[in-house]
Amino acid sequence: MSEISSILVIFGGNGDLTKRKLFPALYNLLSQELLLNNFAVVSVSRTKMTDEDYITKMKESIKEFSRFEYDESVFKELKKRVKYISFDFSSDEGYKNLKLELEKLDSIYKTDGRRIYYLAVAPEYFRIIVEKLKLHKMADDSGKYRVVIEKPFGKDLHSARCLNETITEAFSEKNIYRIDHYLGKEMIQNIMVLRFANFFIESLWSNKYIDNVQISALETVGVENRGGYYDSAGALKDMVQNHILQLLTLVAMEPPVRLDTESIRDEKLKVLKSLMELTPEYIKDNVVRGQYDEGYINGVKVPKYRDEYRVKHNSNTETYVALKLFVNNYRWDGVPFYIRTGKRTNRKLTEVVIQFKNMPKILYYNENKNIVPNVLVIKIQPDEGIYFQFNAKEPGSVSQIIPVKMDFCHSCIFGGNTPESYERLLLDSLKGDSTLFTRWDEVEYSWKFVDAISTLWLNESIDFPNYKAGSIGPKEAENLIKRDNREWWSR
Ligand SMILES: NC(=O)c1ccc[n+]([C@@H]2O[C@H](COP(=O)([O-])OP(=O)(O)OC[C@H]3O[C@@H](n4cnc5c(N)ncnc54)[C@H](OP(=O)(O)O)[C@@H]3O)[C@@H](O)[C@H]2O)c1
Repeated sequence: MSEISSILVIFGGNGDLTKRKLFPALYNLLSQELLLNNFAVVSVSRTKMTDEDYITKMKESIKEFSRFEYDESVFKELKKRVKYISFDFSSDEGYKNLKLELEKLDSIYKTDGRRIYYLAVAPEYFRIIVEKLKLHKMADDSGKYRVVIEKPFGKDLHSARCLNETITEAFSEKNIYRIDHYLGKEMIQNIMVLRFANFFIESLWSNKYIDNVQISALETVGVENRGGYYDSAGALKDMVQNHILQLLTLVAMEPPVRLDTESIRDEKLKVLKSLMELTPEYIKDNVVRGQYDEGYINGVKVPKYRDEYRVKHNSNTETYVALKLFVNNYRWDGVPFYIRTGKRTNRKLTEVVIQFKNMPKILYYNENKNIVPNVLVIKIQPDEGIYFQFNAKEPGSVSQIIPVKMDFCHSCIFGGNTPESYERLLLDSLKGDSTLFTRWDEVEYSWKFVDAISTLWLNESIDFPNYKAGSIGPKEAENLIKRDNREWWSR
């Protein structure tokens, strides 16, 4: 393992992400003795407060959100390494002070000028912060500086390109860490292991044996306090452009030549390049959008999307997307990938379903016309695990065949307290491993795919809302798959 020797500078140190994810992740890493001696944190935000006030706030967050029980001795270790500085992101004076402070910390922690700038801020601040870091000679190509950028990376291909140009003026590609927190999830990292460490699985992983692939990311929650951002993004840009297409690349990629960062990213990119071209006619027939109406979740009445906080009352932003796509390469030719993601549905679940082809309609099929196809399900959240469904004889009966499962329950074997995505991603960025972060060309091709849909939608009217909160989603999403004589897999 490479040694950590760097100062982590969190822009947006007083924000929600820092409180709920970053500080609890730092605490969890310290609890496991994964952060070594040459390490300190400097948090930057607008609100004026002392170091003591700041760290007291973070202590409360750690108590609330950390996965390990609070331990005063671990917290003290963290506390002595934390400094809080307040200034407006546009203030040159602020960056000068920050630079001085960092130089002082360098000599205490022997970090030799190495920095990781974590931009835990709204996207409109990405550009100004990077420009100021460059102006004040706090970023260059020497390899000492890394930048971690939160999603969304742009709001379309054009804005993403502009943002990327600004960032690459200050940081080289290998020092840019674009976060997609899905990639930090245990079961998502397990997809490559499942495929490339199991002979029988990888042997069956192609259009020869697979009938279709389904990727679902469904939530029961609405937009919560993110209405302002979400209303300008929608499910397509918030979920499909990043999380779902990344998940799809891991399912569809070829084996990389090596397990190093660039070899893996090269294979993921090839999948994105192989995504079918979306014509307006295809989109109209094969991409469904929805927006939730009022309804009931677990017996509690919830408002419609248009009544959510900071959402426009006549908003046409989609809270649900379902689509069918094809990966046009040798392995996947002819295999449909069905994708669905939505808020306020009747279940919380993220999973990948690999449905194998039907058996020839002879032998047992003659006795039992209901033989179901084999299915491999990768459960990502809330349950983590993998199961394989196959057909077996019902005990005692002469010819009754029923589906049964071989189930790998992740938490039953490894315990439920698996590392949080942000733990893994923070640690990797500190160690300089960018495998679980997205490279620019991956972002670029994802936006190309998504832009084709969002541009068409901009010019087309839609009758929203079209599904009730607490339902399975819009009926068009059911029809999308039913008309191919298939069904969304459900446990
Ligand atoms: N929250 C999450 O769970 C979550 C999850 C995934 C991705 N993200 C992404 O993470 C980023 C941050 O989200 P967030 O929810 O943490 O946002 P947030 O709660 O609004 O926090 C923003 C932070 O930026 C500071 N800030 C804003 N304008 C400033 C300025 N002009 N000068 C100095 N400081 C300024 C605020 O400081 P003050 O409070 O001192 O004013 C605050 O600390 C966003 O890109 C978001 O999309 C967030």
